[in-house]
Amino acid sequence: MKALCWMGVNDLSVEDVPEPTILNDQDVIVKVRASAVCGSDLHLIDGYIPAMRRGDILGHEFLGEVVEVGPGVRDRRVGERVVVCSIISCGRCRYCRRGLFSACDNGNAEPAAFESLYGYAGAGIFAYSHLVGGYAGSHAEYVRVPFADVGAFPVPEDLSDDEAVFASDGVPTGWMAADFCDIEPGHVVAVWGAGGVGQMAAAAAKLLGAARVIVIDRFPDRLRMVERELGLETLDYTRVDVREALRDLTAGRGPDACIEAVGMEAHGNGPQYAYDRVKQAARLEDRAVALREAILSCAKGGVVSVVGVFGSFVDKFPMGAVVNKGLTIRSAQQHGHRYIPMLLERMAAGEIPTAHLATHPLPLSDGVRAYDMFKHKKDGCVRAILHP
Ligand SMILES: NC(=O)c1ccc[n+]([C@@H]2O[C@H](COP(=O)([O-])OP(=O)(O)OC[C@H]3O[C@@H](n4cnc5c(N)ncnc54)[C@H](O)[C@@H]3O)[C@@H](O)[C@H]2O)c1
Ligand SMILES: [Zn+2]
Ligand SMILES: [Zn+2]
Repeated sequence: MKALCWMGVNDLSVEDVPEPTILNDQDVIVKVRASAVCGSDLHLIDGYIPAMRRGDILGHEFLGEVVEVGPGVRDRRVGERVVVCSIISCGRCRYCRRGLFSACDNGNAEPAAFESLYGYAGAGIFAYSHLVGGYAGSHAEYVRVPFADVGAFPVPEDLSDDEAVFASDGVPTGWMAADFCDIEPGHVVAVWGAGGVGQMAAAAAKLLGAARVIVIDRFPDRLRMVERELGLETLDYTRVDVREALRDLTAGRGPDACIEAVGMEAHGNGPQYAYDRVKQAARLEDRAVALREAILSCAKGGVVSVVGVFGSFVDKFPMGAVVNKGLTIRSAQQHGHRYIPMLLERMAAGEIPTAHLATHPLPLSDGVRAYDMFKHKKDGCVRAILHP
């Protein structure tokens, strides 16, 4: 079959690879119908997540049809249209039982490197390196889905493939980010990043009761999209001083919660950004411009909810602000399984719009071009959806 493979840093290509087979009783094989690019892939392509190997198939945000089920699968059936959570979790361990699916003890089939880096291994993640299981991804004609009863969800008929595919990753990540914020009536929430994840976090914050949601980015087309599609306020960080603007918009208090949906490749200006770039090029730290700004902007007693992905260390981390303003920092890879059934219902009811995110539906054979457009934010690309 054809698949889009990681061949080295900034080197992708469509290759002929073997089709996946059932390896464990609880596996299903899914024939992919739609597979989205994601900001997380950029960290792999740019070489900031270690443990990728030449030939690894990319893609973790996907939807398709079940074509084969393992003997231990109870609920999934051949012919079903399913959306699959990007995180691979067993559903049974002490973490899954607490709803902490991305901390699953059994999803990562190659836990040693993760343990040596972070202490204890988390769940598996499709196509996210040999740190998190080395699973083959979904930018392919077929994909093997482990623990399918736990991670593959039937899709309501009224949602198209290109709308529902976001229930795999972007929508639940955004929802979790807002859920972490303990939003109360009257709260103001600021969101750094107007990509698919930031937009879905902003939409969730509004649905969870925020009085105002302010989204920060530098791309005019993304900011206009937030205003038009979600009806929310925006700030362009290249035009205003974000901390000052947020203070002005919140009667001098700062946002009650700040969501970081940018991650380790944040952009910025000035000497701090130059310092981050040099240190990141030497693989000594992650670029945390947006994270620092979120911490410094947040109101006293507020929550900083971090869903942007970080892999290593953050220099100049404003711990003094965390302690002395009494902030709570929450973060995780998405615990998607906890939210996806509820979110599919909300999406089908029209409460969470996603169709506008699918700016570039393309054939899988155009995968290299799709990532070039997405990485460089060309042609208004928010998400390319690859169709095998
Ligand atoms: N925790 C999870 O489970 C999970 C799931 C999916 C994605 N992610 C992460 O979420 C992040 C966003 O993903 P995405 O798909 O939306 O990516 P994206 O690349 O489409 O969007 C990121 C946006 O951040 C903006 N940005 C850069 N620097 C900024 C700054 N200083 N201030 C404000 N905005 C800034 C960029 O202009 C861009 O629009 C990534 O780090 C990704 O890895 C996490
Ligand atoms: Zn993702
Ligand atoms: Zn588990």
